[in-house]
Amino acid sequence: MESIIIENLVKSYGPTVAVDHVNLTVEEGTVFGLIGPNGAGKSTIIRSLLGLIPYQSGKVLVSGTDMHDANAQRKLKVGYLPQKAAFQEWRTTEQALQILGRLSGMERDRLKNRIEEVLEQLGIEEYRDRKVSKLSGGTIQKLGFAQAILHEPSVLVLDEPMASLDPASRFQFKKMIKELRDSGTTVLFSSHIPPTSRTWSIRSDSCRAVRSATLDRSAVWKRRSLSAPSSWSS
Ligand SMILES: Nc1ncnc2c1ncn2[C@@H]1O[C@H](COP(=O)(O)OP(=O)(O)OP(=O)(O)O)[C@@H](O)[C@H]1O
Ligand SMILES: [Mg+2]
Repeated sequence: MESIIIENLVKSYGPTVAVDHVNLTVEEGTVFGLIGPNGAGKSTIIRSLLGLIPYQSGKVLVSGTDMHDANAQRKLKVGYLPQKAAFQEWRTTEQALQILGRLSGMERDRLKNRIEEVLEQLGIEEYRDRKVSKLSGGTIQKLGFAQAILHEPSVLVLDEPMASLDPASRFQFKKMIKELRDSGTTVLFSSHIPPTSRTWSIRSDSCRAVRSATLDRSAVWKRRSLSAPSSWSS
């Protein structure tokens, strides 16, 4: 079953056509990489999909619902890591998670347990009492990932999740993404780095589950006279 459907999505900012008739679908319980160079429109696609910005035409559905519809954001369990994860800088890591958990309607005891789990999973327990303003870029990225998975969403959308991470942390993130997939979560992520068979095994036996969109049939690429190498496709 398709968990994410994007059909003929068109989004312009004034005269700038950021997304020009993009189509993609993501099957439930699979990982889909949205790969493209800077300015290709990846964040715009994601923000349109999540109902954060309006779009001109086309169709965007998460679990059969357009997130622009009233109540959809509340009803659907979607986790989101923005490209620039922004937290209130004066809060501690733990407080940031508490606020976000309450905002997503998590019950108190469950929130407490989940905060312990995600701090441990992301390896950031030692920063629990440190203010966000004093965290490194990579740790903020991990906090962003922690808040995205805190409420155990069935659909997880990650905009450039690896951007500020060192190689060991990238490996850890990929492992976590695969584990989430194995437990049934649908994951859409963006990256400007083409996945290689070594990093994502896209040409090996996991290609059914870890799939990459090259957008090579979309005008996003054509506009920049770029053609994606065939090895980027699965
Ligand atoms: N708020 C905005 N107002 C005007 N133009 C915008 C806005 N946001 C994005 N754009 C433009 O839309 C195009 C796509 O931008 P977008 O941020 O979606 O690309 P991206 O693929 O996410 O890039 P990156 O890899 O740098 O994150 C670019 O030309 C960008 O300048
Ligand atoms: Mg972007």
